[in-house]
Amino acid sequence: MHSFRYHQGELFAENVPLQSLAEQHGTPLYVYSKATITDHFTRLDAAFGKLDHLVCYAVKANSNLAVLNTIAKLGGGFDIVSGGELYRVIKAGGNPAKCTFAGVGKTREEIVFALKQGIYCFNAESEAELHYINQVAGELGKKAPVAVRVNPNVDAKTHAKITTGKSENKFGIDFDHILAVYDRVADECPHLVIKGLQMHIGSQLTNVDPFLEAVQKVVPLVKQVKERHNIEFFSIGGGIGINYRQSLDSGPVTWWEQNAETHPLTVQAYAEAVVPHLEALGVRILCEPGRFMVGNAGTLLTKVLYEKRGSAKTFKIVDAGMNDLIRPTLYEGWHQIVPLKQPTTTDVEKVDVVGPICESGDFLAQNREIPLVKEGEYLAVLSAGAYGFTMASNYNTRPMPAEILVDGDKATVVRERQTLDDVLKGEHIA
Ligand code: LLP
Repeated sequence: MHSFRYHQGELFAENVPLQSLAEQHGTPLYVYSKATITDHFTRLDAAFGKLDHLVCYAVKANSNLAVLNTIAKLGGGFDIVSGGELYRVIKAGGNPAKCTFAGVGKTREEIVFALKQGIYCFNAESEAELHYINQVAGELGKKAPVAVRVNPNVDAKTHAKITTGKSENKFGIDFDHILAVYDRVADECPHLVIKGLQMHIGSQLTNVDPFLEAVQKVVPLVKQVKERHNIEFFSIGGGIGINYRQSLDSGPVTWWEQNAETHPLTVQAYAEAVVPHLEALGVRILCEPGRFMVGNAGTLLTKVLYEKRGSAKTFKIVDAGMNDLIRPTLYEGWHQIVPLKQPTTTDVEKVDVVGPICESGDFLAQNREIPLVKEGEYLAVLSAGAYGFTMASNYNTRPMPAEILVDGDKATVVRERQTLDDVLKGEHIA
Protein backbone atom coordinates (compact mmCIF):
# COMPACT_ATOMS: atom_id res chain seq x y z
CA MET A 1 0.00 0.00 0.00
CA HIS A 2 0.98 3.62 0.05
CA SER A 3 -0.32 6.44 2.19
CA PHE A 4 -0.39 9.35 -0.25
CA ARG A 5 -3.81 10.49 -1.39
CA TYR A 6 -5.96 13.49 -2.16
CA HIS A 7 -8.32 14.56 0.56
CA GLN A 8 -10.45 17.70 0.40
CA GLY A 9 -8.47 18.95 -2.56
CA GLU A 10 -5.01 18.45 -1.10
CA LEU A 11 -2.42 15.72 -1.27
CA PHE A 12 -1.82 14.08 2.09
CA ALA A 13 0.83 11.76 3.48
CA GLU A 14 -1.16 9.75 6.01
CA ASN A 15 -3.03 12.51 7.92
CA VAL A 16 -0.68 15.36 7.09
CA PRO A 17 -1.30 17.79 4.19
CA LEU A 18 1.89 18.02 2.17
CA GLN A 19 1.42 21.66 1.18
CA SER A 20 1.77 22.66 4.83
CA LEU A 21 5.04 20.73 5.07
CA ALA A 22 6.37 22.35 1.89
CA GLU A 23 5.46 25.82 3.16
CA GLN A 24 6.86 25.25 6.61
CA HIS A 25 10.08 23.43 5.73
CA GLY A 26 10.77 24.64 2.20
CA THR A 27 11.52 22.58 -0.89
CA PRO A 28 13.02 20.36 -2.19
CA LEU A 29 11.77 18.18 0.64
CA TYR A 30 11.62 14.41 1.07
CA VAL A 31 8.60 13.12 2.99
CA TYR A 32 8.23 9.48 4.09
CA SER A 33 5.25 7.57 5.46
CA LYS A 34 5.96 5.32 8.42
CA ALA A 35 2.70 3.39 7.92
CA THR A 36 3.72 2.42 4.39
CA ILE A 37 7.14 1.18 5.50
CA THR A 38 5.55 -0.79 8.33
CA ASP A 39 2.96 -2.30 6.00
CA HIS A 40 5.55 -3.39 3.50
CA PHE A 41 7.81 -4.96 6.08
CA THR A 42 4.92 -6.79 7.71
CA ARG A 43 3.57 -8.03 4.41
CA LEU A 44 6.89 -9.43 3.24
CA ASP A 45 7.65 -10.93 6.63
CA ALA A 46 4.27 -12.68 6.59
CA ALA A 47 4.78 -13.98 3.04
CA PHE A 48 7.88 -15.86 4.26
CA GLY A 49 6.12 -16.84 7.49
CA LYS A 50 6.36 -20.58 6.81
CA LEU A 51 10.13 -20.49 6.69
CA ASP A 52 12.80 -19.79 9.26
CA HIS A 53 13.68 -16.42 7.77
CA LEU A 54 15.06 -12.93 8.30
CA VAL A 55 14.15 -9.85 6.28
CA CYS A 56 17.38 -7.85 5.93
CA TYR A 57 16.43 -4.40 4.66
CA ALA A 58 18.91 -3.09 2.06
CA VAL A 59 20.05 0.10 3.77
CA LYS A 60 21.33 1.67 0.54
CA ALA A 61 17.74 2.32 -0.58
CA ASN A 62 17.07 4.78 2.23
CA SER A 63 19.45 5.05 5.15
CA ASN A 64 17.81 7.77 7.21
CA LEU A 65 18.14 6.92 10.91
CA ALA A 66 14.38 7.19 11.46
CA VAL A 67 13.70 4.73 8.62
CA LEU A 68 16.29 2.29 10.00
CA ASN A 69 14.86 2.67 13.50
CA THR A 70 11.37 1.88 12.20
CA ILE A 71 12.64 -1.32 10.63
CA ALA A 72 14.77 -2.26 13.64
CA LYS A 73 11.71 -1.98 15.88
CA LEU A 74 9.79 -4.30 13.55
CA GLY A 75 12.51 -6.90 14.13
CA GLY A 76 14.21 -6.48 10.78
CA GLY A 77 17.80 -7.17 9.97
CA PHE A 78 19.92 -5.09 7.60
CA ASP A 79 21.85 -5.66 4.41
CA ILE A 80 24.74 -3.20 4.52
CA VAL A 81 27.42 -2.37 1.97
CA SER A 82 29.82 -0.19 3.93
CA GLY A 83 31.18 0.53 7.36
CA GLY A 84 29.20 3.75 7.19
CA GLU A 85 25.93 1.88 6.78
CA LEU A 86 26.82 -0.35 9.74
CA TYR A 87 27.52 2.78 11.79
CA ARG A 88 24.11 4.14 10.85
CA VAL A 89 22.33 0.89 11.71
CA ILE A 90 23.93 0.89 15.16
CA LYS A 91 23.08 4.58 15.71
CA ALA A 92 19.49 3.79 14.72
CA GLY A 93 19.18 1.03 17.31
CA GLY A 94 19.63 -1.88 14.88
CA ASN A 95 21.31 -5.09 15.91
CA PRO A 96 24.70 -5.79 14.25
CA ALA A 97 24.04 -9.50 14.81
CA LYS A 98 21.26 -9.14 12.22
CA CYS A 99 23.48 -7.47 9.62
CA THR A 100 24.89 -8.98 6.46
CA PHE A 101 27.74 -7.07 4.85
CA ALA A 102 27.74 -7.19 1.04
CA GLY A 103 29.85 -5.43 -1.61
CA VAL A 104 32.83 -6.24 -3.79
CA GLY A 105 35.36 -3.88 -2.21
CA LYS A 106 35.36 -4.07 1.58
CA THR A 107 38.35 -2.29 3.12
CA ARG A 108 40.44 -3.39 6.08
CA GLU A 109 38.88 -0.69 8.29
CA GLU A 110 35.40 -1.86 7.37
CA ILE A 111 36.20 -5.52 7.99
CA VAL A 112 37.75 -4.71 11.39
CA PHE A 113 34.76 -2.56 12.38
CA ALA A 114 32.27 -5.23 11.33
CA LEU A 115 34.18 -7.99 13.15
CA LYS A 116 34.33 -5.92 16.32
CA GLN A 117 30.62 -5.18 16.13
CA GLY A 118 29.82 -8.88 15.68
CA ILE A 119 27.84 -8.80 12.43
CA TYR A 120 25.86 -11.84 11.33
CA CYS A 121 27.85 -12.47 8.17
CA PHE A 122 30.11 -11.06 5.47
CA ASN A 123 28.74 -11.77 2.00
CA ALA A 124 32.02 -12.13 0.11
CA GLU A 125 32.21 -11.57 -3.61
CA SER A 126 35.64 -12.96 -4.58
CA GLU A 127 38.18 -15.51 -3.45
CA ALA A 128 40.70 -12.72 -2.84
CA GLU A 129 38.25 -11.03 -0.49
CA LEU A 130 37.68 -14.27 1.43
CA HIS A 131 41.42 -14.63 1.96
CA TYR A 132 41.70 -11.03 3.08
CA ILE A 133 38.84 -11.35 5.58
CA ASN A 134 40.54 -14.51 6.87
CA GLN A 135 43.81 -12.62 7.32
CA VAL A 136 42.23 -9.66 9.14
CA ALA A 137 40.16 -11.96 11.39
CA GLY A 138 43.33 -13.92 12.25
CA GLU A 139 45.15 -10.74 13.20
CA LEU A 140 42.30 -9.81 15.54
CA GLY A 141 42.15 -13.31 16.99
CA LYS A 142 38.59 -13.67 15.70
CA LYS A 143 36.62 -15.97 13.45
CA ALA A 144 34.79 -14.23 10.61
CA PRO A 145 31.37 -15.54 9.57
CA VAL A 146 31.19 -15.64 5.77
CA ALA A 147 28.82 -16.44 2.96
CA VAL A 148 29.81 -16.42 -0.69
CA ARG A 149 27.79 -14.66 -3.35
CA VAL A 150 27.04 -16.73 -6.38
CA ASN A 151 26.62 -15.16 -9.79
CA PRO A 152 23.96 -17.44 -11.28
CA ASN A 153 24.17 -15.95 -14.79
CA VAL A 154 20.44 -15.30 -14.95
CA ASP A 155 19.04 -12.32 -16.81
CA ALA A 156 16.87 -10.26 -14.46
CA LYS A 157 15.32 -8.45 -17.44
CA THR A 158 15.57 -5.08 -15.80
CA HIS A 159 17.51 -1.88 -16.63
CA ALA A 160 21.13 -2.62 -17.59
CA LYS A 161 22.53 -0.47 -14.77
CA ILE A 162 20.71 -2.48 -12.10
CA THR A 163 21.27 -5.97 -13.50
CA THR A 164 23.72 -7.84 -11.29
CA GLY A 165 23.36 -11.58 -11.86
CA LYS A 166 24.91 -11.98 -15.31
CA SER A 167 28.44 -13.31 -15.80
CA GLU A 168 29.58 -10.01 -17.24
CA ASN A 169 28.56 -8.15 -14.06
CA LYS A 170 31.22 -7.60 -11.40
CA PHE A 171 29.19 -9.31 -8.67
CA GLY A 172 29.63 -12.69 -7.07
CA ILE A 173 31.56 -15.78 -8.11
CA ASP A 174 30.73 -17.78 -11.22
CA PHE A 175 28.18 -20.52 -10.64
CA ASP A 176 30.52 -23.14 -12.13
CA HIS A 177 33.48 -22.24 -9.93
CA ILE A 178 31.90 -21.46 -6.60
CA LEU A 179 31.86 -24.96 -5.10
CA ALA A 180 35.61 -25.27 -5.58
CA VAL A 181 36.03 -21.86 -3.91
CA TYR A 182 34.06 -23.06 -0.86
CA ASP A 183 36.25 -26.18 -0.68
CA ARG A 184 39.51 -24.27 -0.99
CA VAL A 185 38.50 -21.64 1.54
CA ALA A 186 37.49 -24.38 4.02
CA ASP A 187 40.98 -25.85 3.66
CA GLU A 188 43.02 -22.69 3.56
CA CYS A 189 41.23 -20.19 5.79
CA PRO A 190 41.18 -21.21 9.46
CA HIS A 191 39.78 -17.87 10.60
CA LEU A 192 36.59 -18.12 8.55
CA VAL A 193 33.36 -19.81 9.54
CA ILE A 194 31.37 -20.73 6.45
CA LYS A 195 27.80 -19.76 7.19
CA GLY A 196 25.86 -19.31 4.02
CA LEU A 197 25.36 -18.67 0.35
CA GLN A 198 23.98 -15.50 -1.16
CA MET A 199 22.65 -14.30 -4.50
CA HIS A 200 21.07 -11.15 -5.93
CA ILE A 201 20.23 -10.90 -9.61
CA GLY A 202 19.06 -7.32 -9.98
CA SER A 203 16.72 -4.58 -8.91
CA GLN A 204 13.22 -3.44 -9.90
CA LEU A 205 12.16 -6.84 -11.24
CA THR A 206 8.51 -6.73 -12.22
CA ASN A 207 8.13 -10.35 -13.20
CA VAL A 208 8.62 -13.39 -11.01
CA ASP A 209 10.21 -15.58 -13.68
CA PRO A 210 13.85 -14.48 -13.30
CA PHE A 211 13.60 -14.92 -9.50
CA LEU A 212 12.22 -18.40 -10.01
CA GLU A 213 14.84 -19.27 -12.59
CA ALA A 214 17.63 -18.16 -10.24
CA VAL A 215 16.20 -19.96 -7.21
CA GLN A 216 15.73 -23.18 -9.19
CA LYS A 217 19.27 -22.95 -10.50
CA VAL A 218 20.88 -22.18 -7.14
CA VAL A 219 18.90 -24.49 -4.81
CA PRO A 220 20.86 -27.62 -5.85
CA LEU A 221 24.05 -25.66 -5.18
CA VAL A 222 22.79 -24.72 -1.70
CA LYS A 223 22.20 -28.43 -1.04
CA GLN A 224 25.74 -29.31 -2.10
CA VAL A 225 27.31 -26.53 -0.05
CA LYS A 226 25.18 -27.53 2.92
CA GLU A 227 26.32 -31.16 2.66
CA ARG A 228 29.96 -30.21 2.46
CA HIS A 229 30.13 -27.18 4.72
CA ASN A 230 26.98 -27.31 6.83
CA ILE A 231 25.81 -23.77 6.01
CA GLU A 232 22.97 -22.28 8.02
CA PHE A 233 21.47 -19.76 5.58
CA PHE A 234 20.67 -18.97 1.97
CA SER A 235 20.05 -15.33 1.06
CA ILE A 236 17.90 -14.87 -2.03
CA GLY A 237 18.78 -11.17 -2.32
CA GLY A 238 16.48 -8.25 -3.01
CA GLY A 239 15.05 -6.87 -6.23
CA ILE A 240 11.25 -6.96 -5.84
CA GLY A 241 9.99 -4.26 -8.18
CA ILE A 242 7.45 -1.62 -7.25
CA ASN A 243 4.72 0.11 -9.17
CA TYR A 244 5.81 3.64 -10.01
CA ARG A 245 2.25 4.58 -11.00
CA GLN A 246 0.10 5.17 -7.95
CA SER A 247 -3.59 5.86 -7.58
CA LEU A 248 -4.15 8.84 -5.31
CA ASP A 249 -7.91 8.99 -5.19
CA SER A 250 -8.97 6.02 -3.14
CA GLY A 251 -8.38 4.72 0.33
CA PRO A 252 -5.42 2.46 1.05
CA VAL A 253 -5.01 -0.01 -1.78
CA THR A 254 -2.08 -2.16 -2.59
CA TRP A 255 0.00 -1.28 -5.59
CA TRP A 256 -0.60 -4.65 -7.18
CA GLU A 257 -4.36 -4.36 -6.78
CA GLN A 258 -4.25 -1.06 -8.63
CA ASN A 259 -2.35 -2.34 -11.56
CA ALA A 260 -2.58 -6.07 -11.61
CA GLU A 261 -2.59 -6.29 -15.39
CA THR A 262 0.49 -4.28 -16.13
CA HIS A 263 2.34 -5.20 -12.99
CA PRO A 264 1.77 -8.82 -12.10
CA LEU A 265 4.50 -9.14 -9.48
CA THR A 266 3.06 -9.10 -5.99
CA VAL A 267 4.83 -10.02 -2.82
CA GLN A 268 2.45 -12.96 -2.49
CA ALA A 269 3.17 -14.11 -6.05
CA TYR A 270 6.88 -13.78 -5.36
CA ALA A 271 6.68 -15.81 -2.17
CA GLU A 272 4.32 -18.39 -3.66
CA ALA A 273 6.77 -18.95 -6.51
CA VAL A 274 9.98 -19.23 -4.51
CA VAL A 275 9.01 -20.53 -1.05
CA PRO A 276 8.11 -24.08 -2.18
CA HIS A 277 11.64 -24.46 -3.57
CA LEU A 278 13.19 -23.21 -0.34
CA GLU A 279 11.15 -25.11 2.24
CA ALA A 280 12.89 -28.45 1.94
CA LEU A 281 16.38 -26.97 2.17
CA GLY A 282 16.35 -26.88 5.95
CA VAL A 283 18.33 -23.65 6.07
CA ARG A 284 17.36 -20.18 7.17
CA ILE A 285 16.22 -17.94 4.30
CA LEU A 286 17.29 -14.31 4.15
CA CYS A 287 15.88 -11.73 1.76
CA GLU A 288 17.25 -8.24 1.15
CA PRO A 289 14.50 -5.90 -0.05
CA GLY A 290 15.34 -2.24 -0.44
CA ARG A 291 13.03 -0.56 -2.93
CA PHE A 292 9.99 -2.68 -2.00
CA MET A 293 10.22 -1.50 1.57
CA VAL A 294 10.60 2.25 1.04
CA GLY A 295 10.07 3.17 -2.62
CA ASN A 296 6.36 3.94 -2.49
CA ALA A 297 6.75 5.27 1.05
CA GLY A 298 8.48 8.48 -0.03
CA THR A 299 7.84 11.56 -2.11
CA LEU A 300 10.00 14.50 -3.14
CA LEU A 301 8.22 17.84 -2.94
CA THR A 302 9.32 20.61 -5.24
CA LYS A 303 8.17 24.09 -6.19
CA VAL A 304 7.59 25.37 -9.71
CA LEU A 305 9.98 28.32 -10.07
CA TYR A 306 9.46 29.35 -13.68
CA GLU A 307 7.76 28.31 -16.84
CA LYS A 308 9.53 28.59 -20.17
CA ARG A 309 7.72 28.07 -23.45
CA GLY A 310 10.26 27.26 -26.13
CA SER A 311 9.67 26.53 -29.79
CA ALA A 312 10.04 22.78 -29.24
CA LYS A 313 8.95 22.29 -25.67
CA THR A 314 7.45 23.79 -22.56
CA PHE A 315 9.65 23.55 -19.50
CA LYS A 316 8.49 23.66 -15.92
CA ILE A 317 11.61 24.67 -14.04
CA VAL A 318 11.40 23.38 -10.48
CA ASP A 319 13.63 23.71 -7.44
CA ALA A 320 14.58 20.00 -7.26
CA GLY A 321 17.28 18.77 -9.58
CA MET A 322 19.19 15.68 -10.58
CA ASN A 323 21.35 16.19 -7.51
CA ASP A 324 18.24 15.59 -5.37
CA LEU A 325 16.80 12.70 -7.43
CA ILE A 326 19.09 11.19 -10.01
CA ARG A 327 16.93 8.22 -11.02
CA PRO A 328 15.21 9.78 -14.06
CA THR A 329 18.47 10.67 -15.76
CA LEU A 330 20.60 7.74 -14.56
CA TYR A 331 18.18 4.85 -15.07
CA GLU A 332 15.49 6.44 -17.23
CA GLY A 333 13.44 6.08 -14.06
CA TRP A 334 9.79 7.10 -14.41
CA HIS A 335 8.37 8.93 -11.40
CA GLN A 336 4.77 10.06 -11.31
CA ILE A 337 4.49 13.84 -10.80
CA VAL A 338 1.33 15.37 -9.37
CA PRO A 339 0.35 18.78 -7.98
CA LEU A 340 -0.15 19.10 -4.22
CA LYS A 341 -3.45 20.87 -4.91
CA GLN A 342 -5.83 18.38 -6.48
CA PRO A 343 -6.56 19.45 -10.06
CA THR A 344 -10.14 20.60 -10.58
CA THR A 345 -10.12 19.82 -14.30
CA THR A 346 -8.76 16.93 -16.31
CA ASP A 347 -6.73 19.30 -18.49
CA VAL A 348 -3.11 18.35 -18.92
CA GLU A 349 -0.13 19.89 -20.61
CA LYS A 350 2.86 18.13 -22.14
CA VAL A 351 6.01 19.46 -20.47
CA ASP A 352 9.54 18.69 -19.38
CA VAL A 353 9.92 19.03 -15.63
CA VAL A 354 13.51 20.19 -15.21
CA GLY A 355 15.75 21.28 -12.36
CA PRO A 356 18.12 24.20 -11.91
CA ILE A 357 21.33 22.21 -12.56
CA CYS A 358 23.54 23.17 -15.47
CA GLU A 359 23.17 19.91 -17.38
CA SER A 360 20.77 18.82 -20.11
CA GLY A 361 20.38 15.57 -18.18
CA ASP A 362 18.83 17.48 -15.30
CA PHE A 363 15.19 16.48 -15.59
CA LEU A 364 12.59 14.78 -13.46
CA ALA A 365 10.31 14.01 -16.42
CA GLN A 366 10.39 14.57 -20.17
CA ASN A 367 7.49 14.93 -22.60
CA ARG A 368 5.12 14.25 -19.75
CA GLU A 369 1.46 15.18 -19.62
CA ILE A 370 0.85 16.67 -16.20
CA PRO A 371 -2.05 18.70 -14.81
CA LEU A 372 -1.76 22.46 -15.23
CA VAL A 373 0.46 24.05 -12.61
CA LYS A 374 1.55 27.65 -12.27
CA GLU A 375 4.69 29.27 -10.97
CA GLY A 376 4.81 29.14 -7.18
CA GLU A 377 2.74 25.97 -6.97
CA TYR A 378 4.08 22.70 -5.63
CA LEU A 379 4.52 19.27 -7.18
CA ALA A 380 5.07 15.87 -5.60
CA VAL A 381 7.46 13.47 -7.29
CA LEU A 382 6.09 10.14 -6.12
CA SER A 383 7.74 6.84 -5.23
CA ALA A 384 10.97 8.62 -4.41
CA GLY A 385 11.54 6.86 -1.08
CA ALA A 386 14.13 4.42 -2.48
CA TYR A 387 17.43 5.55 -4.00
CA GLY A 388 16.27 9.17 -3.78
CA PHE A 389 17.95 10.92 -0.89
CA THR A 390 20.65 8.24 -0.59
CA MET A 391 21.87 9.06 -4.10
CA ALA A 392 21.57 12.82 -3.68
CA SER A 393 24.67 14.99 -3.88
CA ASN A 394 25.89 18.53 -3.36
CA TYR A 395 26.51 19.04 -7.09
CA ASN A 396 26.34 22.74 -8.00
CA THR A 397 26.90 23.42 -4.27
CA ARG A 398 23.28 22.67 -3.54
CA PRO A 399 22.55 21.77 0.08
CA MET A 400 20.93 18.36 0.62
CA PRO A 401 17.18 18.58 1.15
CA ALA A 402 15.50 18.01 4.50
CA GLU A 403 13.72 14.73 5.23
CA ILE A 404 10.48 14.30 7.14
CA LEU A 405 8.85 11.17 8.55
CA VAL A 406 5.08 11.25 8.85
CA ASP A 407 3.43 8.98 11.39
CA GLY A 408 -0.35 9.48 11.48
CA ASP A 409 -0.91 13.16 12.33
CA LYS A 410 2.69 13.75 13.27
CA ALA A 411 5.45 15.01 11.00
CA THR A 412 9.01 14.92 12.33
CA VAL A 413 12.06 16.45 10.68
CA VAL A 414 14.34 13.42 10.61
CA ARG A 415 17.13 15.20 8.80
CA GLU A 416 17.58 18.92 8.68
CA ARG A 417 18.18 20.70 5.42
CA GLN A 418 21.91 21.32 4.99
CA THR A 419 23.15 24.86 5.33
CA LEU A 420 25.83 26.23 3.03
CA ASP A 421 28.26 26.02 5.94
CA ASP A 422 27.42 22.30 6.23
CA VAL A 423 28.24 21.90 2.55
CA LEU A 424 31.59 23.70 2.87
CA LYS A 425 32.55 22.03 6.15
CA GLY A 426 36.09 20.67 6.10
CA GLU A 427 37.22 22.68 3.06
CA HIS A 428 40.20 25.01 3.32
CA ILE A 429 42.04 27.47 1.14
CA ALA A 430 45.59 26.12 0.64
N1 LLP B 1 20.97 -6.95 -2.12
C1 LLP B 1 22.03 -6.60 -2.88
C2 LLP B 1 23.23 -7.39 -2.84
C3 LLP B 1 21.93 -5.46 -3.71
O1 LLP B 1 22.97 -5.13 -4.47
C4 LLP B 1 20.76 -4.69 -3.73
C5 LLP B 1 20.64 -3.49 -4.56
C6 LLP B 1 19.69 -5.09 -2.90
C7 LLP B 1 19.82 -6.22 -2.13
C8 LLP B 1 18.39 -4.33 -2.84
O2 LLP B 1 17.75 -4.32 -4.06
P1 LLP B 1 16.26 -3.76 -4.19
O3 LLP B 1 15.37 -4.66 -3.35
O4 LLP B 1 16.25 -2.38 -3.69
O5 LLP B 1 15.94 -3.85 -5.62
N2 LLP B 1 19.98 2.84 -7.49
C9 LLP B 1 19.21 1.91 -8.30
C10 LLP B 1 19.08 0.56 -7.62
C11 LLP B 1 20.41 -0.05 -7.24
C12 LLP B 1 20.29 -1.38 -6.57
C13 LLP B 1 21.60 -1.82 -6.05
N3 LLP B 1 21.57 -3.06 -5.32
C14 LLP B 1 17.85 2.53 -8.61
O6 LLP B 1 17.59 3.64 -8.17
O7 LLP B 1 17.05 1.93 -9.32
